[in-house]
Amino acid sequence: MRIIVCPDYNAMSRQAANVIAAQVIMKPDCVLGLATGSTPVGAYQQLAKWQQQGDVTFKDVRTVNLDEYRGLPGTHDQSYRYFMNTNLFDHIDIDKANTYVPNGMAEDVDAECAAYDERIQEFGGIDLQLLGIGHDGHIGFNEPADHFSCGTNCVELTDMTIDANARFFANRDDVPRQALTMGMQAIMQAKAVLMVVSGADKAEIIRKSFCGPITPEVPASILQLHPNVTLVGDEAALAGLKEEGLV
Ligand code: GLP
Repeated sequence: MRIIVCPDYNAMSRQAANVIAAQVIMKPDCVLGLATGSTPVGAYQQLAKWQQQGDVTFKDVRTVNLDEYRGLPGTHDQSYRYFMNTNLFDHIDIDKANTYVPNGMAEDVDAECAAYDERIQEFGGIDLQLLGIGHDGHIGFNEPADHFSCGTNCVELTDMTIDANARFFANRDDVPRQALTMGMQAIMQAKAVLMVVSGADKAEIIRKSFCGPITPEVPASILQLHPNVTLVGDEAALAGLKEEGLV
């Protein structure tokens, strides 16, 4: 695993954007696995800036997002489709028809999940998967459980995740209780993984994920088994790894 320690959020965002831009420059028709949450927003802004300057183009890139709330249409301002449009896709030269987010409004959830995995397979898998991390160690919306998920699936969100994401909604009651998420198979089969993390509140879960036992109770711990992980974080978020002597 490569660990890149940055002084602050802005530096972390630029480094993460560098890794993503390098992937796109080296393979212009690559498949990017993308993530939501507040952490990648700075990297998305940087990528948009570089694209507008002509340093990188996304015209042949295809993207698959990790997850979507169940029951929110793409037009809802808290849906992850809306997030991706407003934070990245609307600002770059990507063909939106080549951007995929699970359909949270699908009536047949199982069919939607199966089709999502089939599409990723048809694409030949993901070249670079971007990940954030939840305070409980979730990646995508793969919450702590007694087993690791496999394919794209519909999950019940934990109270911790509902609490954490309530800040984006008018009321905690408005936060959807379920989500569709890519499973561990597609994430682990990605050729490269880039995790971004920021803030002291993530230090303990990062320590557990990368220095603790590999367990579905800490979903991100499975990344210890991935051969090509780059972790880009600010000093506060990586403090636990420093204590463990990893950086
Ligand atoms: C959500 C997303 C995750 C993301 C997490 C952390 O739950 N489903 O993919 O990693 O939030 O978000 P943040 O970066 O805002 O801490």
